[in-house]
Amino acid sequence: MCGITGYIGCRDAAPILIEGLRKLEYRGYDSAGLALLSKGRLNVCKKKGRVAVLADEVAKKPVSSHIGISHTRWATHGGVTDENAHPHVSSDGRFALVHNGIIENFEQMKNFLIEKGYTFSSQTDTEALVNLIAYHYDHRTDDTMENRFMEAVRKALMHVEGTYGIAVISPLHEVQMIAARKGSPLLIGIGKDERLVSSDVLGFAGRATNVIYLEDGQIASLTTDNCDIVTISNKPIDFVVNEIDWELENADLGGATHYMEKEIFEQPKALENAIRGRISDDESTAVLSGLNISPSELRQIDRILFCSCGTAWHACLVAEYLIEKYARIPVEVEYASEFRYRNAPLDKNTLVFVISQSGETIDTLEALRESKRKGYKTLAITNSVGSTIARESDGGLYQYAGKEVGVASTKAFTSQVVICLLIALYLGRLRDLSYAEGREIVEAIKSLPSLVEETLKQAPLIEKIAKKYAHYKDFLFLGRLSEYPIANEGALKLKEISYIHSEGYPAGEMKHGPIALVSPECPTLIFGNSGSALPKIISNAQEIKARKGPIIAVTDSPEAFEGVADDIIAIPHVHKSIRPIISTIPIQLFAYYVAVELGNDVDKPRNLAKAVTVE
Ligand code: F6R
Repeated sequence: MCGITGYIGCRDAAPILIEGLRKLEYRGYDSAGLALLSKGRLNVCKKKGRVAVLADEVAKKPVSSHIGISHTRWATHGGVTDENAHPHVSSDGRFALVHNGIIENFEQMKNFLIEKGYTFSSQTDTEALVNLIAYHYDHRTDDTMENRFMEAVRKALMHVEGTYGIAVISPLHEVQMIAARKGSPLLIGIGKDERLVSSDVLGFAGRATNVIYLEDGQIASLTTDNCDIVTISNKPIDFVVNEIDWELENADLGGATHYMEKEIFEQPKALENAIRGRISDDESTAVLSGLNISPSELRQIDRILFCSCGTAWHACLVAEYLIEKYARIPVEVEYASEFRYRNAPLDKNTLVFVISQSGETIDTLEALRESKRKGYKTLAITNSVGSTIARESDGGLYQYAGKEVGVASTKAFTSQVVICLLIALYLGRLRDLSYAEGREIVEAIKSLPSLVEETLKQAPLIEKIAKKYAHYKDFLFLGRLSEYPIANEGALKLKEISYIHSEGYPAGEMKHGPIALVSPECPTLIFGNSGSALPKIISNAQEIKARKGPIIAVTDSPEAFEGVADDIIAIPHVHKSIRPIISTIPIQLFAYYVAVELGNDVDKPRNLAKAVTVE
């Protein structure tokens, strides 16, 4: 979703800002822009389309500047046009602003400002805010020159309903930048003789060594070598400066063609990182100190609620299966966006988990806040160290999967699932899971990286199959038990990057509706692994075949599908606890190769954003 970068320092701002935007491209956007201050003038350039288009435009008229702001926009209010791209400038030309989030009361602000003589040239909510800053600048004559800029922004923000991460500059204050946040992430980077602002560590483009995570309701005033932070009610803040671990944030393509490809093949490593130090061989259990909750407290838990969105929600569905199976604790799974508003009754002894790769998804964050507000212990599983969800949760577990850049989540998903398995093991061993059963799961978890490596070897076959099926318009994905969520995940992956309509269903549901779709034009990918459900799944496949629906089987029992499936992807025979992870690999590869075959922008699929920071 929208990305912000800002720079104030002793170096040339434009290339640093453009590089920052390039690093944020993965978040998803449709236009880009930049504003630079130079010799008391504001220079603005904004273009719909890619950052490369903006960079070409900026290169045509180079401006030497040491302070600027830039933005990638993911349209919310108003179409994808140059005018609606950020930065927006107040109609008096004295303030430029970039904004992530949504200003819900912008119409009222706008009407008020139009009455006062301000004019508007875009359809955005943001333009109302930059003009309101200009208005307050003129109506706070009691402030000193030093704090007048900060006060104008602060006063304006007091009237905002909605969410924002903003950076503001003004030719009246050429050595100062103001940044603020409420509901949209904003970070301040500290480098040598320079300060940066970004919605994501990557936007610092490797320049900052340290980071300050702005909290909601905080406003920062930045100069080349200083940072002051106050609350919206003007109370000074003692902030914490954190070191940036660039190794964790490393996001080079390496030799891969796409980030998605790179990240699929990184899964053995990502899983190894998620597991490292979290297994006790002696006790056949997991070691999960990050949970910040004692074994005796955990034994009081009667119910667990998982909340998330998208792919992370599918990880929650697998968690439900694993925790109920191994720990025998009832689990509920909610879409975070529903949980926040539907006021579901929860038992007293409920533990809440949220799962979020980015740690910034607004729906998940608000679900976490709602759960904490009601007094529930709320833990997070996230891949983003220092993210808002990580900071606001009562505890949790980092995934350590390494930065995920491809919009379609892959390695983050499997590492979320293995962490859920570790939780299931830990909770199970606190209750009735025997040492021997725990031992089997421990061994299965330890073997995961190499089993995933082995499964990845099917890539050439899957590529061939993907080419064969790439031009169909509809797809069904069917699975049972712990592979039902993987069927959902397969359908989501395929639609996200190939734009092929696809649906995931529990295989047993097929006859209750989805079978109406089955025809030679609608292939089905079906998971069929050894176990008691296999004969039923074979029957489902037969029913599809009888209706001439093409079938791809993903199975550890290829012989069972001979003569039934048109194509078979064999996966290793593994312990049930890790099967959802192994089954995920083929559907990721399948979606990837289909999208490549169709010539789609795999890493930046249309309309999608990596971190969804608006509701
Ligand atoms: C799908 C995908 C999205 C995210 C969802 C939640 O490939 O990436 O569905 O899973 O937007 O994102 P996080 O995990 O960052 O909260």
